[in-house]
Amino acid sequence: MAEATTKPNLVKARPRKATLLGLSPVHIASAALVAFAAVYLLYIRGASHFQPPDLTPLHAPKMTDLPEFKGGWANDMLWGSYRSGLYFGMRTRSPKSLLAGLMWFNPDSPQDFVQQRVRHLASQDDQLARYGWERHDGRSFGRQTLVDGSVTLTLSMVKVQGAGKGPGGDWAVRIKTSRTPKHAGPRAARVSLVMYLADEDTPKSAWRVLPGGEPTDLKEPTTLACGANSVVGEWSFHMLDSSKKRFKVPPRLDYLAVPSLEGGHDLKQSVRELLLSVIYEQMERDPASEVHLTLPNGVTTGSDLAMFQVSVQVGSSVDFVFLSAPGQDPAARVASLSGAPLTQLLLAKEQEFDSHFERVLGPVLVPMTEEDYYPRQLQEASKAALSNLLGSMGYFYGSSQVRLSATKVAPYWPAPLFTAVPSRSFFPRGFLWDEGFHQLLINRWDPRLSREVLSYWLDLMNSRGWIPREQILGAEAAARVPAEFVVQDPAHANPPSLFLVLLEMAKDVVALEEEEAHQPKSGQGSGEVQEGAERVRATRSFLHRAWPRLEAWFNWYNTTQAGPLPHSYRWHGRNTSTVYELNPKTLTSGLDDFPRASHPTADERHLDLRCWMALAANTMATIGGVLGLSPEVVEPYLFTSQLLSDMPLLDALHWDEASQQHLDWGLHSEAVALQRTAVMVDGRPQEVAVRVVREEPRLQYVPHFGYVSLFPLLMRILPPGSPRLGELFVHINASELLWTSFGLRSLSAASSLYRQHNTLHDPPYWRGQVWVNINFLALSALKYYATTPGPYQQQATQIHLALNNNLLQTLVSQYYDRGYLFEQYDDRDGRGVSSHPFTGWTALLTLIAADMY
Ligand SMILES: *[C@@H]1O[C@H](CO)[C@@H](O)[C@H](O)[C@H]1NC(C)=O
Ligand SMILES: *[C@@H]1O[C@H](CO)[C@@H](O)[C@H](O)[C@H]1NC(C)=O
Ligand SMILES: *[C@@H]1O[C@H](CO)[C@@H](O)[C@H](O)[C@H]1NC(C)=O
Repeated sequence: MAEATTKPNLVKARPRKATLLGLSPVHIASAALVAFAAVYLLYIRGASHFQPPDLTPLHAPKMTDLPEFKGGWANDMLWGSYRSGLYFGMRTRSPKSLLAGLMWFNPDSPQDFVQQRVRHLASQDDQLARYGWERHDGRSFGRQTLVDGSVTLTLSMVKVQGAGKGPGGDWAVRIKTSRTPKHAGPRAARVSLVMYLADEDTPKSAWRVLPGGEPTDLKEPTTLACGANSVVGEWSFHMLDSSKKRFKVPPRLDYLAVPSLEGGHDLKQSVRELLLSVIYEQMERDPASEVHLTLPNGVTTGSDLAMFQVSVQVGSSVDFVFLSAPGQDPAARVASLSGAPLTQLLLAKEQEFDSHFERVLGPVLVPMTEEDYYPRQLQEASKAALSNLLGSMGYFYGSSQVRLSATKVAPYWPAPLFTAVPSRSFFPRGFLWDEGFHQLLINRWDPRLSREVLSYWLDLMNSRGWIPREQILGAEAAARVPAEFVVQDPAHANPPSLFLVLLEMAKDVVALEEEEAHQPKSGQGSGEVQEGAERVRATRSFLHRAWPRLEAWFNWYNTTQAGPLPHSYRWHGRNTSTVYELNPKTLTSGLDDFPRASHPTADERHLDLRCWMALAANTMATIGGVLGLSPEVVEPYLFTSQLLSDMPLLDALHWDEASQQHLDWGLHSEAVALQRTAVMVDGRPQEVAVRVVREEPRLQYVPHFGYVSLFPLLMRILPPGSPRLGELFVHINASELLWTSFGLRSLSAASSLYRQHNTLHDPPYWRGQVWVNINFLALSALKYYATTPGPYQQQATQIHLALNNNLLQTLVSQYYDRGYLFEQYDDRDGRGVSSHPFTGWTALLTLIAADMY
């Protein structure tokens, strides 16, 4: 066999030839390694007694062990599109999963292939005109459109449970290919859809690939593979050409199955590279032949990774069907999940989605001026925003890297996380403060799903009450994170935004119970009433179980992030020694480069954190009340909440008379600038920018008006009658400060750091751009002040309406013009910028459209 030439991961297909017992020296060596690792693990476990508290889980019953997340629910939710970072992938919610994933490319264009135009990981570099789930219910159904040049894929996924099916049930994926309307330029005639399966665990029985032999007609169901997995048990995988017609060029199937640990390299992490290298090798071996960019059709003994390449004419449709416990009636089950029955099932699921959407998010749309795109576009964009948030939810398993000291980094305990993610292409993993915003929407759609996600997060709390803020769990997640963001510091915080949704949950219980108390006891147990009663019961158990964790969490913030003066707070983790940053970042605050005191010291008082703490204390007091906890337990929170809402105290710490604004306090100089100079690096001159301070810093209010100053409004701390509120409305409404036609900008246009780079290479991030999470909180607060009696009700009403219109116009028009929701919007022209699709908190569009806060 020819040696590998082009790619390092080259695996040779050995057409249907088994090695002795299927065991190679590599396998034997790795078995020895596994044995060694097992002994080592036992040793570590025995030593866990001595684990530092930062690496020890909080001693409290686990949230994810609540009965509502076991049994039927766990089974229904076992499979899902939980591989957030892929265009499409399925996995189970288990540490080691059977994986499915999709790749595609043009099989007639060697040029495309050489340029590696094979799609797999969701990536902005691929420049898809648009992709995203347009329908996804978060449980059992989704429909996604992917527009890749001249080819459009419409992918639908559905899961079914029921008697006779194994763990997790069956699922099906339909991929319809079509020509992209109005596409200029050359058109691909065919597309290769490569669906692969891989087992992260050792298969329970040997895989059989194409057990019925190579198919002659793909219009008949073909069994692609079967095997057994540690979680789902026996399984089988099938396909069918479900195109309406027969094309001149018939579809063809090519395949390859290999052991994924060949050569000491885990090919599951690089299926795309495997595909590229195998097909390259074919091209190189026979450069003269008419090129077929196809897999070599081989199966190696001991395979646990198989790729199935279905090459079809554009216009075709292909169905893939996965059966769990296929022993019973496999043919009938495949038939019911493909062809016309699948069409019917998908239609029904789509209608279910639409009616649930109407029920929980309402048909109520804010009236707008332009009749032509309203309300259909807004409705569609809202459904797509919610759907892509739900369809991007991921399951991750692994350990965060945690800093124990300046020189020591150690792994957290291995743990699962089921979470929404900010962006499939850019941030396909869990982020603590984003999650609070995600769940504000998900909780409306599916409260049980929200409770479960919060449970996974709260279970990540260590014995001190800390939760790591960026979750990089497992190899799939780790592969996409720059090294500087990997290590999590257990002294560093992140906004406790989960309290936003926890407060919603507690208030929901109060409202439902009040409602129930006013119901005539006439036994008219309508579905809605029953559903409400069920939700009250489940939310109560959830909050009850959460209480000790929330106490620990609150206490961690209240002690470790306490500020220099009583009742003040300070974000830790700012770099006190850097000379390269114009204004040292405050990553922990979530607002990264939003200007703070120019010279980080322990004297700082951070307004936003203080207001987050007011929300946290208020939420704790509310939950404590709902749970009927004793006054000794609840009163400290009530007391803290009152202190943090006390205006004279807030003013004493944060009110700047001169500007009539609430601001941060710290050691600050306005006279700072980045100065470019050249330094020698490895004997070559390199340009750097070093900060120069032209005027000594002094302790003062930090004169940067922006999102931070809004927090007393956002957290509803300002009393409705306070003149501070009137003052703030004037500042918000001023276009030379925060007001734009596209939403509220993050930093006043009058600030000295407005739109300034922070280093030579760090562009402005929270220095002007419009962000949807803070705008959402602003709308929510404005609505509150608009509906609460007070002298500024009219101003609040007017600003709310204008802001609501501006945001919706911006988000919806960008979505239709450019195909995506974005991470942020340019405050000068409303253009979506930075990562996309960003259906993390930008998906709050759905709640804004529904006017639900
Ligand atoms: C602070 O910044 C300096 C200079 O950029 C860097 O060398 C140092 O590692 C940073 N310290 C921390 C704790 O990040
Ligand atoms: C939070 O910290 C303050 C200051 O130490 C303290 O007075 C207050 O009781 C704490 N709140 C709670 C609920 O523990
Ligand atoms: C906000 O500004 C606009 C235009 O400058 C003005 O028409 C409007 O009355 C102002 N609204 C409030 C509440 O101040």
